[in-house]
Amino acid sequence: MEFKYTSRSVEDTLTIAQNIESEKFPNMIICLEGELGSGKTVFTKGFASALGIKDTITSPTFNIIKEYLNGEMPLYHMDVYRLEETDEDIGINDYFNKNGITIIEWADIINDILPSERLVIKFKVIDEDTRVLVFIPYGEKYEELCSAVL
Ligand SMILES: Nc1ncnc2c1ncn2[C@@H]1O[C@H](COP(=O)(O)OP(=O)(O)O)[C@@H](O)[C@H]1O
Ligand SMILES: [Mg+2]
Repeated sequence: MEFKYTSRSVEDTLTIAQNIESEKFPNMIICLEGELGSGKTVFTKGFASALGIKDTITSPTFNIIKEYLNGEMPLYHMDVYRLEETDEDIGINDYFNKNGITIIEWADIINDILPSERLVIKFKVIDEDTRVLVFIPYGEKYEELCSAVL
């Protein structure tokens, strides 16, 4: 099952992220794929604002993981762009069992260590303002989530 959403502005991408109801689903893992500038961090900002997180969200490219603990639930924002492809336990796995939302930019780089149940969102750049977001849910609860939002 795949769900396509065409975002025509930054606001569209923020809104779709805000519409994901995290309270139904407190241990969500969201994997973002797509080239540089495709909107992965914008999406994460929308998600964080819906959790009431007031901090500025920036791509954690140089520290890999940023933790935001002052919202309705913990948000772990990862950017694994600088990691080598690996199937080893590098500590990231610990986050998958924590109570909180994990959002991973460039998640395809660590595909081998990702949990089988997760939401994958592929970002495609169409033109300056347009992005196509392809939601691919793995697992029943993620399918329900996509049906509810899209
Ligand atoms: N529809 C859109 N959705 C998200 N970002 C968009 C959109 N249209 C243009 N942009 C621009 O694309 C860039 C996305 O940047 P960012 O989210 O940091 O990308 P990534 O994290 O994927 O590298 C921003 O400069 C933003 O203003
Ligand atoms: Mg980014």
